[in-house]
Amino acid sequence: MANRRNFIRLIGGGVVIAAAAGAGLTAFPLGLADPSAAWLTPGAGETDPRRRALAFAILAPNPHNMQPWLADLREPGAVSLFVDRTRLLPATDPFSRQILIGCGAFLALLEMAARAQGATVAITPFPQGEPGPSLDDRPFARVVFSAGAPVADPLFAQVLARRTNRNPYDMARIPSAADLQAVALAGVQDGLITAAFTADPARTAALRDIVWRGWLREMNTPAALKESVDVMRIGDRAVTEHRDGIALDGPMMNLLGAAGLMSPAALLDPQSEANKAGMQMWKAMADSAPAFLWQIGVDNRRTTQLAVGAAYLRLNLEATARGLSIHPWSMALQEYPEMADLYREQQAMLGGAAQSPVHMLVRIGYATAESAPAPRRGLPDHVKDA
Ligand SMILES: Cc1cc2nc3c(=O)[nH]c(=O)nc-3n(C[C@H](O)[C@H](O)[C@H](O)COP(=O)(O)O)c2cc1C
Repeated sequence: MANRRNFIRLIGGGVVIAAAAGAGLTAFPLGLADPSAAWLTPGAGETDPRRRALAFAILAPNPHNMQPWLADLREPGAVSLFVDRTRLLPATDPFSRQILIGCGAFLALLEMAARAQGATVAITPFPQGEPGPSLDDRPFARVVFSAGAPVADPLFAQVLARRTNRNPYDMARIPSAADLQAVALAGVQDGLITAAFTADPARTAALRDIVWRGWLREMNTPAALKESVDVMRIGDRAVTEHRDGIALDGPMMNLLGAAGLMSPAALLDPQSEANKAGMQMWKAMADSAPAFLWQIGVDNRRTTQLAVGAAYLRLNLEATARGLSIHPWSMALQEYPEMADLYREQQAMLGGAAQSPVHMLVRIGYATAESAPAPRRGLPDHVKDA
């Protein structure tokens, strides 16, 4: 069309956009609050060391940015942590393995932040026992705070710069073996979690292929697709209202959302123009993976899942410190029936198995653009019975 341009914009969960916009179209004058405000000065103005540490913990990486963490602060000097079971992802994460990885990252950040400000913490995972295949109402951790000397973990300096970066990565710039080794090492826990990486051309090509097949499988599995679409926040107003999920913000999303071109109905149709354009964006991401890195658990116990999250947080921070970006590709790690064949194939490629699975797989490299901080709901939304 003569005076129209096609716009494509990446979105977090799997889909996106193409639509027309001409000169003269502008974003709404929304005047909305910053959905990423939680990243600015976490804990500023808080006098309780538990709340100061929690203000950092809510910046943890977590699946679909569901932020399912609830803190009970009623016991002085202690925090009991619960999963908000209204924020699970049952279609793609049927055993809440990934949700617990996000809880482990949360605990690691809580501990780092507490120690940086001079508190010592003692963490007891699942103080009332581990849940079975479904999470229940019992806490996932109890954390006791006491006074100590400040301990500056060098990785703590990276916390506010850490991102999940979904931009294309530079395929001409392969991360060095030394950097990959150091990042992998940060994702290891002795006796519990190993980590490995590859920048080998044949092996990365095979991994680019399978992560892409995983993406396609998810797009074409209605319940899995719906789960993502249900948490897509279309336009600045929705992003600011929810401050969670998959944020589709910016002037173009505002316009497309208002015009009805970017709607849950369009996103639920794998053949829609929105999804066809999104597919191109995601394929470009899968294709720009100069290296991959992954973590394997010695088992798949609930405590191991928490430990994977803690180690993943450190891995992400170490990558940040080295100027490297990471982006998880979890589709073929997910345990729902429609993914079962790809799950087995990918686990075998990486040296994992159902009982000692690969828990996290990321592409790693030098991103071609920076990522904005992902929205966070803010501390008050995480304090239970306050
Ligand atoms: C267990 C786990 C699995 C994840 N899987 C994916 C994934 O498959 N694709 C993706 O784009 N991001 C994935 N992420 C990244 C989250 O979407 C991201 O952490 C969240 O949106 C918050 O953004 P941030 O990491 O920039 O703070 C995963 C994160 C975790 C902890």
